[in-house]
Amino acid sequence: MNKKTITFQGFQEMKNKGQKFTMITAYDYPTAVLVDQSPIEMILVGDSLGMTVLGYDSTLPVTMEDMIHHSKAVLRGAPNTFVAVDMPFGSYNESISQAISNGNRLMKETGADCLKLEGGVNLAPTVRAFVDAGIPVMGHIGLTPQTASLLGGFKVQGKDAESAKKLMEDAMAIQEAGAFSLVMECVPSPLAKLVSEKLTIPTIGIGAGPDCDGQVLVFQDLVGLYKKFTPKFVKQYLDLGSQIADAFEEYANEVKNGTFPSAEYSFDMNPDFLKNLK
Ligand code: KIV
Repeated sequence: MNKKTITFQGFQEMKNKGQKFTMITAYDYPTAVLVDQSPIEMILVGDSLGMTVLGYDSTLPVTMEDMIHHSKAVLRGAPNTFVAVDMPFGSYNESISQAISNGNRLMKETGADCLKLEGGVNLAPTVRAFVDAGIPVMGHIGLTPQTASLLGGFKVQGKDAESAKKLMEDAMAIQEAGAFSLVMECVPSPLAKLVSEKLTIPTIGIGAGPDCDGQVLVFQDLVGLYKKFTPKFVKQYLDLGSQIADAFEEYANEVKNGTFPSAEYSFDMNPDFLKNLK
């Protein structure tokens, strides 16, 4: 596939023309190579790697070093795909100067195309500072996993009139602060539709219905590699976990019963050279 990286202006043009786009998370080189060869336009090195790759219960323990390590591998594997990288919890909540210095580090050390930050109205000054510093920002509102406990857990956001109004205000504030796109997580479809119509920048939905400009899914959810918890919005396109379990079982059985490795997977030599060793 002859793929060319779409710039953030390109995603704006896609929204303007009513063309949908897709984003998927990736955290390593082999997955990034597969995405790079696919029609998926964007990769997110999400801090969801805390759960899906590192085995934590939340995204909170994820560090700058974790994000840099995984993002560098992804960037090596996906030279033709737009790559967004998450700012991890604690890397942008002390002060704007702390946020900018960590943002600069993530951009410089990973080669990311943009950074994603979670938050609404309260985060707007930080988003503005990033954009002024030359760092493209993807916003993230609705269910923000880094502050899920403040939201009462992993729940749909904006379901009543008051919280729907707040979500709209958050979306507008992040757009006005200069973000080029906005992820909406766990938002009722009619509200996500309204936000997508009101905003001029592209919206990217996860659990936000069909009317966002783009969609994002977590790689392990899509291919069936993370079974600890599956949100309602996840469509599992493949059961790779079961296929891998079957392959592991077959491999172990074949070694035990002597079918693997057969001659096909082994190296031969002239037996004369072994005579003096016996
Ligand atoms: O970290 C992540 O994977 C995300 C997506 C769920 C949008 O933020």
